[in-house]
Amino acid sequence: MDARTVTLSPTSPQPKSTVKTRQGFATSLGAIAATLGSALGLGNIWKFPYMTGQNGGAAFILVYLLCLFIAGLPVMLSEFVIGRRSGSNAVRSFKKLAPGTLWYLTGVAGVTSAVVIMFFYSTVAGWVYAYIFKAASGALSAVDPAQTPAVFDALTVSPIAPLVWQWAVLAVVGTVIIAGVQNGIERVAKTVLPVLFLLLLVCDLRALTLSGAAAGVNFLFRPDFSKITPAVFLAALGLSFFKMSVCMGVMTTYGSYMGSEDNLPGSMLKVALSDTVVSIMAGLAIFPAVFAFGYQPDAGPSLLFITIPMVFNSMPLGQLFLTLFFILTAIAATGAMISLMEVPVAYLSEEKNWPRAKATLVSVLVVAAFGLLASFSTSILSHVQLWGRTFFDFFDFVTSSIFMPLAGVAISLFAGWVLTSKAIVDEASNNGQLKNQSFLRGLAFILKYVTPIAITIVLLSGLGLIKL
Ligand code: PHE
Repeated sequence: MDARTVTLSPTSPQPKSTVKTRQGFATSLGAIAATLGSALGLGNIWKFPYMTGQNGGAAFILVYLLCLFIAGLPVMLSEFVIGRRSGSNAVRSFKKLAPGTLWYLTGVAGVTSAVVIMFFYSTVAGWVYAYIFKAASGALSAVDPAQTPAVFDALTVSPIAPLVWQWAVLAVVGTVIIAGVQNGIERVAKTVLPVLFLLLLVCDLRALTLSGAAAGVNFLFRPDFSKITPAVFLAALGLSFFKMSVCMGVMTTYGSYMGSEDNLPGSMLKVALSDTVVSIMAGLAIFPAVFAFGYQPDAGPSLLFITIPMVFNSMPLGQLFLTLFFILTAIAATGAMISLMEVPVAYLSEEKNWPRAKATLVSVLVVAAFGLLASFSTSILSHVQLWGRTFFDFFDFVTSSIFMPLAGVAISLFAGWVLTSKAIVDEASNNGQLKNQSFLRGLAFILKYVTPIAITIVLLSGLGLIKL
């Protein structure tokens, strides 16, 4: 514990057992590092680059930035405000700020989404861990490039290996979480983020110095506005949520660990900017090499496990760079998992008054139990379908197409109309101490009028109820 430990106000209504000091982040820098550790993930290394490549390059990046301003950032700021004002986990924060109402269901949706997302996110993170060893051992470089898809198939059709890797991810994440907010989450984020950045820089330099790299840079940045359709716009909006880790209680929980002197909008902008830079750097590590060796840039989701190994293996020192690339991807995916795990752990330890270790163990076991269904979706359960989807796809669909947008609408309505714009501006400017009120008023206006409508459109079109 240190001077920044957050003490719950004794006047607020809460069970006696929880009137205790609550650990928060030790420093502002640590808070930013932890938040960035959550934001950086497979969304940066995999989703953003392939979506940019497929959807108009620089034009997509501009649309994405616009979406950040109308959706990702306003919701992120609301979550920070809700978390810090209440000093509580994702569910209790709503109970404290709007006692006796049903708004707390927003928090329930958040905690549920965080847990369900982990079912499949841990599966993919497990594949990434497995690929570090495949790359390092030379198992990927030994095969004929045409056989690279077979390596991925061999990993995913077996029920055992992916499960073991998924459990390895959960063990790492559980260990960091048990160590605590400061000694676990914050310290690990501060240590590994520079490593991630450095590895990405090394991969960028390698890719950009290949002959023929220019075509990839061109592909990534050439603005092609003809590709921007309403569907692409909606996909960018969804991506801005996913990348900013909002709508699932993560930012509310992290907001509750921030100190009264922290600059919430400043942290938000630093995280968003760094996150976008890292996404673009990931694109620069991938596309120049893809073009230099004549591979297809629009591979979509298989980019990470098939195209990238093929491409890296075509270059000098490819085995080394491929290993580094998967290490950095594993760091990013683990950071995202840590923040997701903290949501149920904060909830259980505060609501049930469990020790942190017990809350972590129970959360990890629940994710392991149901995550098994996602892990087996490519092997022994591949024929089992829920509403036409495998377990893996079903978990992905319910969270990203239903829970997250619903929570997004609820959070923006709650912040804009229940907490009110004035409270947002007051809290986010540290009661007027920070001279950023006009920016905040603009963001609060967007939050009140634009964000809920934009997300509702995403929700309805995602469910196929409206066609754009
Ligand atoms: N932001 C992470 C990514 O880009 C994903 C994530 C979503 C992490 C939600 C935590 C919560 O991959």
